Amino acid sequence: MKNRLSQVMPGGRCFFMAMDHGYFQGPTTGLEKPGETIKPLLPYVDALFCTRGALRSAIDPLNSKPIILRVSGCTSMVGKDLADEEVTTSVEEIIRLNASAVGVSVFIGSDYEKQTLKNLSQLVNACEMYGIPVMAVTAVGKELERREARYLALCCRIAAELGARVVKTYWCEKEFDKVVKGCPVPVVIAGGPKCETELEVFEFVSDGMQKGAVGINLGRNVWQNPNPVAMAKALRAIVHESASVKKAYEIFNEGKQKLESHAGRQVLQ
Ligand code: 5RP
Repeated sequence: MKNRLSQVMPGGRCFFMAMDHGYFQGPTTGLEKPGETIKPLLPYVDALFCTRGALRSAIDPLNSKPIILRVSGCTSMVGKDLADEEVTTSVEEIIRLNASAVGVSVFIGSDYEKQTLKNLSQLVNACEMYGIPVMAVTAVGKELERREARYLALCCRIAAELGARVVKTYWCEKEFDKVVKGCPVPVVIAGGPKCETELEVFEFVSDGMQKGAVGINLGRNVWQNPNPVAMAKALRAIVHESASVKKAYEIFNEGKQKLESHAGRQVLQ
């Protein structure tokens, strides 16, 4: 268990690259070809969060990162209720794919609260036998307004009490420290829809880290940005080097300029 956790959280901190979106929303913008999107970002992230299908079809087994396998699903954006999830992947398959951890969503307060908490509990039962950490994802479906401290604290605590080794939850503007303090296992910050500016992303990540989160699980705010590598470098600096927002923005701009001058040279040639 400790060894697997340290694979995905070297030094206790983590930058997970979320690329699991296709499991309920199909070919998400920027992730139509997940292998190509992710390749240049690999040096900057600690683990990939993806389904077995993406792993099989898009990730080079000879040149990858530790995998956190998304193992809940069976719903879609166009279906009745995103919360109506089941566990999709057997423990044998999780082991065969050499996953370092697994992720499962819980939809607390929804009609499927019990079902999804049972998904988590049963997955913990199966995975603990083999020392595989389970990350609970406190999901809100389409109800994004639920992302406030009291609700998130409740979700994180329940997920940890049921045996999650890590909890991924949303950052919130007010009292995020209370969410982290009430959770006895490490808390990882989820991304959410793309922010308007890079600074906004750096600000919420930096605030969340200062308030006790151990890292991030971000997708769209990295690979939907026109400069995803620069974004990844800057976010890595906040997570692993405690870089300030100002420093992160400098790193982002440096990365962006390098790319622009490289593109310029190519045009001249
Ligand atoms: C979807 C997830 C994603 O991994 C999570 O939402 C992070 O991706 P993004 O930063 O694009 O929101 O768990 O259920």
